Amino acid sequence: MTITVIGAGYVGLVTAAVFAELGNKVYCVDVIKDKIDELKRGEVPFFEPMLSDYIKKNLKEKRLFFTTSYSESVPKSKTVFICVGTPPKTNGEADLSFLFSALRQTAKNLSGYTLITIKSTIPIGYEDDLEETVRKYAKEKFEFAASPEFLREGTAIADTLHPDRIVIGSSSKKAQKMLLELHAPISGERIITDMRSAQLIKYASNALLATKVSFANSIAILCEKMNANVTKVLAGVGADRRIGHPFLYPGVGYGGSCLPKDVLAFIAQSTRFDYDFELLRAVDSINNDQIERFINKIREALEAKEGKRINLDGFSLAILGLAFKPNTDDMRDAPSIKIINRLIDLGAKITAHDPRAMVNAKKILPHVTYATDISKAIQGKDALVIVTEWPQFAQLDLKQVKKLLKKPIIIDGRNLFNAQKIKEAGFKYVGIGQ
Ligand code: UGA
Repeated sequence: MTITVIGAGYVGLVTAAVFAELGNKVYCVDVIKDKIDELKRGEVPFFEPMLSDYIKKNLKEKRLFFTTSYSESVPKSKTVFICVGTPPKTNGEADLSFLFSALRQTAKNLSGYTLITIKSTIPIGYEDDLEETVRKYAKEKFEFAASPEFLREGTAIADTLHPDRIVIGSSSKKAQKMLLELHAPISGERIITDMRSAQLIKYASNALLATKVSFANSIAILCEKMNANVTKVLAGVGADRRIGHPFLYPGVGYGGSCLPKDVLAFIAQSTRFDYDFELLRAVDSINNDQIERFINKIREALEAKEGKRINLDGFSLAILGLAFKPNTDDMRDAPSIKIINRLIDLGAKITAHDPRAMVNAKKILPHVTYATDISKAIQGKDALVIVTEWPQFAQLDLKQVKKLLKKPIIIDGRNLFNAQKIKEAGFKYVGIGQ
């Protein structure tokens, strides 16, 4: 099948690469010419494991084409996937300007019946506006479907090839048939529904994932107060198959370009539909508080050492991990940004290291010293602070770390280390919920 994917961001590039790999002819369109030129050379503008290999291979085998031109791609395509960003506006609602612009361009270039499949996360209630926008410019027959994306950064290719479910939201039998055919080589349960329900599945899923994380963070707070061990408590809770282990790991709060924005957008659209989503407001508020709780842990860890209440003036800290999670260079809404800015406000000097995200971090956090390796980051510092759980940090040689640090203090925002072992190695160790 020949398809067009509009938007060369995370979702767009992964969708384009995977459908090309499965044997389709795929055009990927973006309005940013420089980005398209890079992609034509096989250069991916962000780090995602395996994505660059898939793109290079399919470029070479002439199944994947990058272009800025709708007229080169849309008329040849049976379906057009809309994968543009829907960033948050100041009131939390999603900004749909990129979406409507993509729809106008698509509409002007339709040739024969075309299915417009929305993968972008868009709020409920705009279906008529989408329809009207396209009808205004289209000379051909078209239909809409929503097929939300559930891939995670860091494991995007595997998630797309082996998803838990494929959601197809369209009341048109023809549209359903086309999307079922296109997804035939991909595993996962098929959920066929109407467009609104499909969009709601996306918001409800991200909202529940965020709820699990905030729940885990709340249990961690209680564990600290009740002198229990959160790792054991949540292992016991997650062992119940009705609950499950994933997303029950406490930390510095959820970040990234999806969970925080989708939670706010879901609250905003619930209000628009006359429902106060109290539960999600609490989820968001717990997540925001998690930053200050972590800052207080750092202050207390250093304070106890000094024996008096302190600001962080004169303290130098090594931060390991900047990306919002491991295996990505994505700094969007990364908890590290708020944590580091707050520490700098309190007077601390920050040296940071991240295996992938330092180039992006430099643009957002200019007042940080960036270390090319872990040893340089921790040498002579008052404490080591873990913000992102890159697996290589767990392999640190503790004897070496102790030698390099000025004071043997580790504040671990992701419970990456085994508390007992770290304490036995002579460190003062502060984790989350233990
Ligand atoms: C999330 C969803 O997991 C995907 O299913 C969805 O497709 C995607 O958003 C999207 O809407 O596009 P992603 O943003 O890549 O994917 O990251 P997650 O793996 O969900 O992690 C989000 C944040 O939660 C990270 O900061 C992570 O560190 C944090 N988290 C996650 C925890 O603090 N604890 C956990 O147990 C799990």
